[in-house]
Amino acid sequence: MDTDSGRENYMLGYGDSAMAWMKSRTVERHGAFLLPYLEPGMSLLDCGCGPGSLTLGFAATLAPGSVVGVDREAEQFAAAADYAAEQGLTNLRFETGDVYALPFDTASFDVVFCSAVLGSVNEPKRVMQEMVRVLNPGGIIAIKEFDHGADIIYPQTPAIARSIELYHRLRAHNGHAAQVGRQLRGMIHEAGCTVENFKAVFDQQAEREGLRAHIERNDGLFREVLGPQYEALGWCTPEQLEADAAVWRDFAEDPAAIFMAAWIEAIGRK
Ligand SMILES: C[S@@+](CC[C@H](N)C(=O)[O-])C[C@H]1O[C@@H](n2cnc3c(N)ncnc32)[C@H](O)[C@@H]1O
Repeated sequence: MDTDSGRENYMLGYGDSAMAWMKSRTVERHGAFLLPYLEPGMSLLDCGCGPGSLTLGFAATLAPGSVVGVDREAEQFAAAADYAAEQGLTNLRFETGDVYALPFDTASFDVVFCSAVLGSVNEPKRVMQEMVRVLNPGGIIAIKEFDHGADIIYPQTPAIARSIELYHRLRAHNGHAAQVGRQLRGMIHEAGCTVENFKAVFDQQAEREGLRAHIERNDGLFREVLGPQYEALGWCTPEQLEADAAVWRDFAEDPAAIFMAAWIEAIGRK
């Protein structure tokens, strides 16, 4: 593994809550922006594929084209590989690898996809350049990234605002750009590609059940991995974390509450 990325703190971890969050993503909801550019037979690399729910969706779309998921944490692949076998998907494989130094030759893939990774690395521009390296000339680079500077979370009581600030502070502490989404257009251009499509979208939670489920998943993540980091850094006591959890539960029951997480969807061509 590249030593740079070895020093980076991937702050969401690989516990049950983090896995459930990633596995809930489907191509239909999270990756649809890429579908108009795909044709059966194309090859695709999914960089930082995590537990592979999106990778599997692309494999089904592109068959018989080959799809590869690469991630530095291979423990996540087992369930995805089993599911692929169950579905009879034989055009898909997972490999351990570092997005700073992809284990593939230059110009190896028709499409390179990357979701929710560039906001979790210290040098997203370097990763972008590396992804473009493995792309065939004329190939498509498709990036989906959050931009926490554009999230609409309302109403923001002081307690809610403080809890959101802690999360942004942890991203900054780890050297991650919480507003990476808006930087993608420039990064794709700098990496030598033409931007063909660039859009902001929201992962919207405004209905009661969806909002409750969203807050519950976030609560799992706070308990599993974020809260312990805030405590270790001396930013929060266990009592404050419990109080924050209660504040978010109240938020989920507020008829006025909305939680709209901003994402950028970007398509570039090499
Ligand atoms: C938030 S998850 C996103 C997973 C998936 N792409 C999705 O959108 O559901 C980020 C993933 O990036 C991986 N990752 C972070 N830094 C990496 C690196 N330097 N090389 C390879 N994978 C990396 C993590 O292991 C994790 O699985």
